[in-house]
Amino acid sequence: MENITGKYALVTGGGRGLGKATALALAAEGVNVAITGRNVENLKRTVEEIKEFGVKSAYSVFDIGNFQEVSPAIEKLKTSLGEIDILINNAGIASFGSVEEMDPAIWTQIIRTNILGTYYVTKAVLPQLLKKNQGDIINVSSTAGINGSASSSAYSASKFAVIGFSDSLMREVRKNNIRVCTLTPSTIASDMSKDLQLTDGNPETVLQPEDFAELIIANLKLPRRAMLKSASLWSTNP
Ligand SMILES: NC(=O)c1ccc[n+]([C@@H]2O[C@H](COP(=O)([O-])OP(=O)(O)OC[C@H]3O[C@@H](n4cnc5c(N)ncnc54)[C@H](OP(=O)(O)O)[C@@H]3O)[C@@H](O)[C@H]2O)c1
Repeated sequence: MENITGKYALVTGGGRGLGKATALALAAEGVNVAITGRNVENLKRTVEEIKEFGVKSAYSVFDIGNFQEVSPAIEKLKTSLGEIDILINNAGIASFGSVEEMDPAIWTQIIRTNILGTYYVTKAVLPQLLKKNQGDIINVSSTAGINGSASSSAYSASKFAVIGFSDSLMREVRKNNIRVCTLTPSTIASDMSKDLQLTDGNPETVLQPEDFAELIIANLKLPRRAMLKSASLWSTNP
């Protein structure tokens, strides 16, 4: 098994939801964790929780959909926390509506955040992994990135694109000992899924952010010769 204790991870959208659960699970394994997002209060609170595990932590506030903000923020984190070994491209947004009715500004924002944001953060972090000739990148797509639905054109387009980006990146950097994994989870209880009324979040039946985090930890602990290329996390309840 790969020993991840003492490594450095960056989790985008780490102040709440799936990203926060992942950041805390990494910290529990002894990983130093940087988190990013736009809500400074959530980020500050989460950094305090991460530090309770005795690891180093830092946060950075920037819009992943704006490369002018992403690039200097990643450079600053490198100085304040350390060089990244593990990148979790988790931050994302969702909104549903027909092509006919959805405001083009919202459609564009979903694409900018989910696919350009994933690309921008990867572009900024990748040199650190290439320099070490080792690393892990986990890109969060969705079941909506595998199948479209009548009201998900923007979200599905963005998440299909994440799969295409992630698969290509994997083929580009596997030779550099960098593992790239694409996750396509089904509905998990979070602000996103509850706000969109996709689920009531009942922990008896609905996937929880901690389940998602466990999958990520198990993936990272695979021996370095092995790489999980993609995984779909589903609930046992149809
Ligand atoms: N929950 C599900 O059922 C589900 C299923 C499949 C895939 N996913 C994917 O899993 C990921 C996490 O989702 P979640 O359910 O945890 O959602 P969430 O609770 O709504 O959290 C979204 C996170 O993304 C961050 N974020 C959003 N836009 C951003 C931007 N422009 N710049 C920087 N950070 C931004 C938010 O940070 P701030 O709050 O600080 O802005 C927040 O931390 C997303 O990519 C989502 O598409 C979720």
